[in-house]
Amino acid sequence: MSLPPTSPAIAVVVVAAGSGERLGYGMPKARVPLGGEAILTHALRGVAAAGIARQICVAVPKGDEQLRSLCQEFRAELLGDDGSDGDAEPDGVPEITVVSGGATRADSVRAALAALADGTEAVLVHDAARALTPDVVFHRVAEALAAGAQAVIPVIPVVDTVKTVVATDGDDARIAPELVTGTAQREVLRSVQTPQGFSLETLRRAHEAALDFDDAQSAAVTDDAMLVELMGVPVHAVRGASQSLKITTPLDLIIAEGLLEGPLGMRFVEG
Ligand code: CTP
Ligand code: MG
Repeated sequence: MSLPPTSPAIAVVVVAAGSGERLGYGMPKARVPLGGEAILTHALRGVAAAGIARQICVAVPKGDEQLRSLCQEFRAELLGDDGSDGDAEPDGVPEITVVSGGATRADSVRAALAALADGTEAVLVHDAARALTPDVVFHRVAEALAAGAQAVIPVIPVVDTVKTVVATDGDDARIAPELVTGTAQREVLRSVQTPQGFSLETLRRAHEAALDFDDAQSAAVTDDAMLVELMGVPVHAVRGASQSLKITTPLDLIIAEGLLEGPLGMRFVEG
């Protein structure tokens, strides 16, 4: 990929500090094996292969020495200590910084933002759980930033019909637990993925503002772009990829294993 010469200096934050409750593996999700390697290793490989990061900052669960070591081993792999070919344009092999994440995803992002190198102008925030995101998605996000976006997210169309509901009471509750209140217009709905890209100044401001949120507001924050939207900053959307699924449940892990082993191979790119 070639970004314009005026492209911002990019860091990629990989948030990997979640506990993986819904996956139910009894260990942090980033450590769960996928095709024989940890989910975090796959995610880091994808970030490095995209070749856009000067620094990769990984948030791991506090005290998780295994994931810290995994990051250092990955850096050694990039440097070619094991004979493999590192591919980290434009500025050589990216630095890897590891920080302790927090209680919420937003806390983990904030911890990582505080550890970015001086001179960083733009940041992509990526879920380790999206371990199979193809290069092309990183590139689309980076290109939108280079073209002047302050915020950019990868999205895919919603395939299901989406309805709003309320919990039923009275007579309705004897029939079914919920009642439909409306149907969303599917053409304008998008499922949102990561990596989400921002000018660093914009994302830092958004996360500082979120420090004043009460518990309910904090719980409602499910991505970084939401915080930026609340400040009235335009958020641009580029095409994501269905193989960039977030590994959340056991079924997602089976699908991810299938993507790795399938006829199209790892990180296949849809047309
Ligand atoms: N994450 C994080 N810090 C947290 C919570 C989540 O860095 N305190 C990261 C996860 O590691 C993951 C991403 O945010 O890469 C998306 O979160 P999610 O898929 O919900 O992962 P978990 O929180 O680990 O899973 P669960 O909600 O099932 O416990
Ligand atoms: Mg979670």
